[in-house]
Amino acid sequence: MVQITVNGSVEEIDADSGTPLIHILRNHLGLNSPRLGCGLEQCGACRIQVDQKLVYSCSTSLGEVNGKSITTAEALVQDGALHSVQQALLECNAGQCGYCLSGIVMAATDLLKHNPSPSRVDIQEALSPHLCRCGSHNRIIKAIQLAAEEHHHA
Ligand code: FES
Ligand code: FES
Repeated sequence: MVQITVNGSVEEIDADSGTPLIHILRNHLGLNSPRLGCGLEQCGACRIQVDQKLVYSCSTSLGEVNGKSITTAEALVQDGALHSVQQALLECNAGQCGYCLSGIVMAATDLLKHNPSPSRVDIQEALSPHLCRCGSHNRIIKAIQLAAEEHHHA
């Protein structure tokens, strides 16, 4: 039995400790924001936070997160309101299929927490582990810039 805290709720998970965390989140807990892309730390679609650090849930096992606190993109929606990064992605029509976006939202919110006024290069660097097969990177970067500006004026 492994105990983890997921988006603030304590969960006891009865599964093989070698199970990739993404399967636990999606299949045991019904949290579908982390997406399985490559399974090899090459696309970022599965990225979440463990103890406030970005990790790849495809390559992290359940056993490795025993006792830790996990945050997925679901936690960014507060009282039905989207996070400013999510809102900006929508406003900029940044996503096409959207498959990459949960991972990107996790990276972007992490960036803004540490660097509230990122330059375009800062954003590009923060997103470098993330692939977007739809080629939406430019609009995604614009959206994150917009969210950062709004943060600033808030
Ligand atoms: S699915 Fe984890 S990095 Fe691609
Ligand atoms: S919007 Fe389709 S992969 Fe990024």
